Amino acid sequence: MRFFDFLLLSLVAGACKASTVDHATAAASQQACQRIAGHLGASIVQSSGAAYDFAASNAWNFANALLRPTCIVFPSQAAHVQAAMREIYRAKSRFAVQAGSHSAMKGWNNVQDGVLIVFSNMKNATYNPASDSIILEPGIHWGEATATLSRFGVAPVGGRVGDVGTGLLLGGGLSFLSPSQGYAADNFKALDVVLVDGRLITATATNQYSDLFRAMKGGANRFGIVTRYEVQAVHVGTDDETPFFGGFIIYDGSTAEALSKATAKYVREVNDPQAVLLTTFTTIVLQGVLQTIAEVFLFYRGTSLPPSIFGDFLAIPALVTQVGPLSYTQVLATIGPESVNAQRGFVQHMGASALAGQEQLYLDALTHYQNFTNTFMNPASGAGMNYSTLAFTAVPASQIAAGRAKGGNVMIPANLKKGFAAVQLAQQFNPGVSAIPSFVQQGIDLLFRQVPPSPGLPLYVNECDAGQKVFESYGGYELLKATYRKYDPERFNVQHCQGPIGL
Ligand SMILES: Cc1cc2nc3c(=O)[nH]c(=O)nc-3n(C[C@H](O)[C@H](O)[C@H](O)COP(=O)(O)OP(=O)(O)OC[C@H]3O[C@@H](n4cnc5c(N)ncnc54)[C@H](O)[C@@H]3O)c2cc1C
Ligand SMILES: *[C@@H]1O[C@H](CO)[C@@H](O)[C@H](O)[C@H]1NC(C)=O
Ligand SMILES: *[C@@H]1O[C@H](CO)[C@@H](O)[C@H](O)[C@H]1NC(C)=O
Ligand SMILES: *[C@@H]1O[C@H](CO)[C@@H](O)[C@H](O)[C@H]1NC(C)=O
Repeated sequence: MRFFDFLLLSLVAGACKASTVDHATAAASQQACQRIAGHLGASIVQSSGAAYDFAASNAWNFANALLRPTCIVFPSQAAHVQAAMREIYRAKSRFAVQAGSHSAMKGWNNVQDGVLIVFSNMKNATYNPASDSIILEPGIHWGEATATLSRFGVAPVGGRVGDVGTGLLLGGGLSFLSPSQGYAADNFKALDVVLVDGRLITATATNQYSDLFRAMKGGANRFGIVTRYEVQAVHVGTDDETPFFGGFIIYDGSTAEALSKATAKYVREVNDPQAVLLTTFTTIVLQGVLQTIAEVFLFYRGTSLPPSIFGDFLAIPALVTQVGPLSYTQVLATIGPESVNAQRGFVQHMGASALAGQEQLYLDALTHYQNFTNTFMNPASGAGMNYSTLAFTAVPASQIAAGRAKGGNVMIPANLKKGFAAVQLAQQFNPGVSAIPSFVQQGIDLLFRQVPPSPGLPLYVNECDAGQKVFESYGGYELLKATYRKYDPERFNVQHCQGPIGL
């Protein structure tokens, strides 16, 4: 079958789905929207108009930008979220929450015939020197937070791409600061959370909500809606200071095997909290021909890239090497908001694996990835896929230990001491594709079976396929389930909101 046949089929499939949304669902969301609008007014609750249209179609994954919520709530304070959640709960309406809009998972940050809560009017970031903490409202993006806070010489442990938002925190969060500070979520100090019935609570490590607090370090969107994050500040210097050294190196695809081996060795051997590594293989179609390029992002908090840590990467012949002294703002700009994978308008897909340090695992992952791209990025395949990535983020033992020292999270098993690599398998589809063709999804599923997580390692919920059993892979899965039962005994969230499976 040809590409355009698929396009047509997927459009037809989409249209059928929209028309079969049942009346009860539509009626419930209409009732919720009317009541919320009654409480909050027409500027906070919108069902049409420019603000509605922009927010409804702003999701990074085009598949989510096609969904049309019954109304969008634009809260500017927690009380607005409470009012919305109370009525959503009462009307038994479907709902979704959107912060930075970057979820790749279909349905996780927008909703058809439901209430969408969008945080674009809650974007404050402030630094409190007395407690050395940063307060973030959920609508801020990492680039904005860094721009606001750099003059104080501090930053939150946040994303590696400026356009991404705070949803990253609830899924764990892999940051350039993580090797020394733990996952982003390990740095929570207090969370204001609107529970499923609209109650507002503050959860900390030591108060009566300490179980919820822990569950939210990896529990994604399942446990409540966060209206305020208080996180540990990290002293990264101002924009005038350059305490970091590094950048990126681009290599020809022919170095992929050498880079895979170097990455495996790094994962096995490097445990320096100041060292950061992200290895990526990106495949594109240029004039009908598949091209793979490799890009490695490497940083060290210090004045050079120590050869004892990065020597293998520096020795592999490169096309472009751009490294030097950097401020934290410059570190965060390295991948860049303008990177291809920050653009909107394309159906996006992500999948997760996690690998221990054995070299063969990385070589196998590469082989299977190459077979996948050779099969589905061949324009004649009709897959409509033009861009694919295999990425390894080193999660060193120091990161695991830092998280434990800060109270631990639900992701990392208690007995895990060694570092590993979080693996991302991502695809971007061509303009005009509105759904992933099922034969491509079958290929993606095969790839997951071919690149399974090493025993005992957690998958990463922020960069997974919606069908992957991520929570089951967590060390704290039992705690996660028990905490969910306690805070949402009627299972409202899992029945009315899309998100990770397994609760
Ligand atoms: C270009 C790009 C770069 C990325 N880089 C990184 C990276 O460096 N490190 C990393 O760890 N991940 C990264 N990711 C993955 C990223 O963590 C996830 O996409 C994350 O979900 C994005 O959060 P968001 O706020 O932008 O997205 P959203 O889609 O708005 O939110 C993500 C999820 O969290 C839920 N959510 C958001 N806010 C709240 C809230 N206040 N209360 C309850 N639920 C909420 C949403 O409902 C949704 O399910 C990247 C993704 C992309 C597309
Ligand atoms: C957010 O910041 C603005 C401007 O600095 C300020 O007026 C407002 O009170 C702040 N809101 C909160 C909730 O802190
Ligand atoms: C595929 O990507 C290339 C650039 O990488 C672009 O020129 C081409 O138009 C894309 N094809 C489709 C069908 O989108
Ligand atoms: C390569 O990928 C295709 C498509 O998913 C699959 O049918 C085939 O079995 C794969 N081959 C190998 C050797 O993995």
